Amino acid sequence: MNTEKKKARYQRIYKQLEELFSKTTDPLARMSTITAVLHHKFDYYFWTGFYRLVHDDLIICCYQGSVACLVLEKNKGVCWEAINQKETIIVPNVHEFPNHIACDSHSKSEIVVPVKNRVGEITAVLDVDSKELDSFDEVDAENLEKIVALINQ
Ligand code: SME
Repeated sequence: MNTEKKKARYQRIYKQLEELFSKTTDPLARMSTITAVLHHKFDYYFWTGFYRLVHDDLIICCYQGSVACLVLEKNKGVCWEAINQKETIIVPNVHEFPNHIACDSHSKSEIVVPVKNRVGEITAVLDVDSKELDSFDEVDAENLEKIVALINQ
């Protein structure tokens, strides 16, 4: 997908989510809705979902795609890297990422975006996997960060 088309699609999705979120501030309802909307709007989204940080465990929450690992081992894999670095991580080739956790062997590239509460603490991560190499770039990162910021607004 070319960059301009991708930017325009993310902008439309952001507006749609803003409107939907006028119905409730519940974070789980918002995370479920983000997952459903994103997963069906981008062909390269193969697995889309959230892991919640609960007492130092990363536990699966709402998602779309194949069955995922329920709990992610601490300090291993891309999701924990995003939490430890406190920033979005883009992985062009998961096979080159040390300690990557493969819940589905079809995944080839991945992006993980931290979700913060109103005081800036990380409460969850959004994880998106693709079956193609190098699917995610700065446009995805910037727009997904904007989208997850809606969860705790
Ligand atoms: N690949 C992730 C694990 C979650 S699955 O992709 C759904 C990781 O390395 O943290």
